[in-house]
Amino acid sequence: AKNVGILAMEIYFPPTFVQQEALEAHDGASKGKYTIGLGQDCLAFCTEVEDVISMSLTVVTSLLEKYQIDPKQIGRLDVGSETVIDKSKSIKTFLMQIFEKCGNTDIEGVDSTNACYGGTAALFNCVNWVESSSWDGRYGIVVCTDSAVYAEGPARPTGGAAAIAMLIGPDAPIAFESKLRGSHMSHVYDFYKPNLASEYPVVDGKLSQTCYLFALDTCYKYFCHKYEKLEGKQFSLSDADYFVFHSPYNKLVQKSFARLLFNDFMRNASSIDDIAKEKLGPFSSLTGDESYQSRDLEKASQQVSKPLYDAKVQPTTLIPKQVGNMYTASLYAAFASLLHNKNSGLAGKRVLLFSYGSGLTATLFSLRLHEGQHPFSLSNIATVMDVAGKLKSRHEFPPEKFVETMKLMEHRYGANDFVTSKDCSLLSPGTYYLTEVDSKYRRFYAKK
Ligand code: ACO
Repeated sequence: AKNVGILAMEIYFPPTFVQQEALEAHDGASKGKYTIGLGQDCLAFCTEVEDVISMSLTVVTSLLEKYQIDPKQIGRLDVGSETVIDKSKSIKTFLMQIFEKCGNTDIEGVDSTNACYGGTAALFNCVNWVESSSWDGRYGIVVCTDSAVYAEGPARPTGGAAAIAMLIGPDAPIAFESKLRGSHMSHVYDFYKPNLASEYPVVDGKLSQTCYLFALDTCYKYFCHKYEKLEGKQFSLSDADYFVFHSPYNKLVQKSFARLLFNDFMRNASSIDDIAKEKLGPFSSLTGDESYQSRDLEKASQQVSKPLYDAKVQPTTLIPKQVGNMYTASLYAAFASLLHNKNSGLAGKRVLLFSYGSGLTATLFSLRLHEGQHPFSLSNIATVMDVAGKLKSRHEFPPEKFVETMKLMEHRYGANDFVTSKDCSLLSPGTYYLTEVDSKYRRFYAKK
């Protein structure tokens, strides 16, 4: 199979959200801390009738319907998620309900988990299957689904929720450049979920920021090295048209791109102009460790990279800013934002994606885009996802209601023997929702 990659995409996020500006005031944070300091606009969250399973049921059903894919045509289904509802039964098995009723139980794949990286692991597994000798000619589906919730405190505004489904196959408009990849994996306690009775992570925020940037630097080094070996020339920011980052909050994305430019400067890449050389010059003698601590470097590199950021990164930031951190779905929601903003204009472009999962696992990889044939075309994917329509039809909740929902969900997490309100009035038609968890912890869903 040639040009294996993403043929089609669909995204779902809950219609319920809070404004970061309102949350800021409610939390007693200084004005601008969440909106400018973190760079976030809104935070989407699941109410008691939605969870990672309902969102993934919704998004997979919608993907199949909107691209008119016969469920029998699916031969593999991989799920990435870090939202644990069951320690043994995979989310993938819940999704089998969609396929079983069409007589298809011949579907490989289960769930992949490591913080926000599980979706990328699932995607690589699925792409590898299509490229392998075990491929049977059918399509694969990759689902990224997460509800990101934090305990009260500085991390809470970096929550979010969404599910994304991607159809995988050959001759894709979004094709992998599989040889162009750099990974960095290591043992760190920056963000983890050791308390199995709680949905909330244990998080060392500052450490997680440094780990993220260090992983980015390291992946970029390996990536550049591989590119140089293959192409016989230096790689620099000018060799890719867009950069998509895992987006816990937008400020980290701004810092990340600035960091890549600093990497180019340190490697003396030809793409660095004289102004950048002059502004970054004073930082060339910093040690690696010092470079992560230097506020002046952060400021200078962000300033120098601003015009390039506006061109190569800003078009990827819409959904992450509007929805928040979607964990495994975050990187792909950023990529969906790019498709939404540029669609057909992306034909012929190279896009680099940086996936980061705390703990930690990270990969920088490359995609090459082509317009493709209907229904698997860049313009049709943008139309089907209808990002603008979905954002517009949301319902704003006051922070008090958000906090109240978080409290209720704390009790519901891991609980059994309850029915939900079954109130699906805010959900759009076709959305799945949770109705009941019985005394044997079995979960039941209905479709609006
Ligand atoms: N106006 C403008 N900016 C402000 C204001 C204000 N009134 N007040 C603060 N800020 C800025 C700060 O200067 C800082 O920006 P900077 O980094 O450019 O200096 C930013 O707002 C954040 O404020 P801090 O005090 O540095 O950090 P805080 O204690 O609020 O925590 C953090 C932020 C660490 C991101 C926290 O939200 C967190 O732990 N989140 C979860 C972990 C996370 O997402 N890590 C990222 C990678 S791992 C993953 O994806 C889960």
